[in-house]
Amino acid sequence: MSSGLDDVVAAETVLSDVDGARGRLIIRGTSLDDLVATQSYEDVVALLLEGFLPLPADLPAALGKARAEVFRHVAAADRDVLALLPVDALGALLARLQDGSDTATALHLIAAPAVFTAALLRLRQGLAPVEPDAALGHAEDALRMLHGACPGKERTSALNRYLVTVVDHGLNASTFAARVVASTQAGLSSSVLAAFSALKGPLHGGAPGPVLDMLDAVGRPEAAPAWLEQAVGDGARLMGFGHRVYRVRDPRADALKGAVRLLAGGGAIAPERLALAEAVEHAALDLLKRRKPDRALETNVEFYTALLLEALGFPRDAFTCVFAMGRVTGWVAHAREQALGGRLIRPKSVYVGPVPRVAA
Ligand code: CMC
Repeated sequence: MSSGLDDVVAAETVLSDVDGARGRLIIRGTSLDDLVATQSYEDVVALLLEGFLPLPADLPAALGKARAEVFRHVAAADRDVLALLPVDALGALLARLQDGSDTATALHLIAAPAVFTAALLRLRQGLAPVEPDAALGHAEDALRMLHGACPGKERTSALNRYLVTVVDHGLNASTFAARVVASTQAGLSSSVLAAFSALKGPLHGGAPGPVLDMLDAVGRPEAAPAWLEQAVGDGARLMGFGHRVYRVRDPRADALKGAVRLLAGGGAIAPERLALAEAVEHAALDLLKRRKPDRALETNVEFYTALLLEALGFPRDAFTCVFAMGRVTGWVAHAREQALGGRLIRPKSVYVGPVPRVAA
């Protein structure tokens, strides 16, 4: 029995490989380091879905059209939906999408988190939702729908880099959830909803909000070592550090660190904010090295995600929604791969409860 299934291999995939020993992430044959430098999110959508669904000749245009089509569901964001946390409100709107296993369903699912998140955040502030512009790229339109104005090259490129960075990541908890549902031959929307629910927890996609809470609590760079020492002494886990698989580096953290430095260089992140984050990172790595000398606990993707999404104007309680904007393509691709080639996923459990008494 392996309670976290650490060493259990439960699927064969051509989609991505998380090489924890080398600190490398391969997305369908290309290393993440190369992918983030050269590809648009739409390119990576095509890369992951190729062979699993018939793809339109002009995928960016088809994804733009899908954004315009799902926008009508925004009307369902009534008072009850808006009273929920953004992550739960997004789940409620995602649940409205028709289930199916075709390209149109896949593109609606990939479009939806960007459209719904922007609209929900605007409605929450009493602002009217902004309709998608099907002619724009996905990252640019996501920011335009959120802020009501075109975001400029630097911010568009930072969000694009983020979406590509998180697009897929082996058999993580949410992707496994997607594959379990797909293995029953349920449709893509059901798989994506299951995955999205798994993403919500702080041990998976919910960490970057708490990273900012930690930065706020630390307050000043000089306070970092003592604050972190106290937190770990009290049994807390430092958000944005450690990983189940990566042992030397999380390549996604490096990809986003580059994007954060570019944003800071362009003035989108205040120098004091960056200095505080770097002091906390430095102190956390030092502390974790001393406390757990046998276990490499490095900066993970969530640490720089927090700074990047904050600079792009997403509120921290919506960070998990932005993670879903990127990861949704991985979920769809894995669900198709599982449905086309996998078996029903049905592991066993060991019963450790009471047994009925045998009659004398
Ligand atoms: N802060 C303090 N101690 C830690 C941390 C941390 N961030 N991460 C691990 N440890 C300790 C842990 O308590 C354990 O101690 P002990 O042996 O005394 O019980 C030891 O290090 C080994 O932990 P592990 O078995 O390697 O950790 P895990 O595989 O159970 O957990 C993790 C991995 C990501 C859940 C964990 O590192 C953590 O809780 N990190 C903080 C939350 C976070 O940043 N989550 C986002 C993960 S990246 C997104 C993704 O890919 O899904």
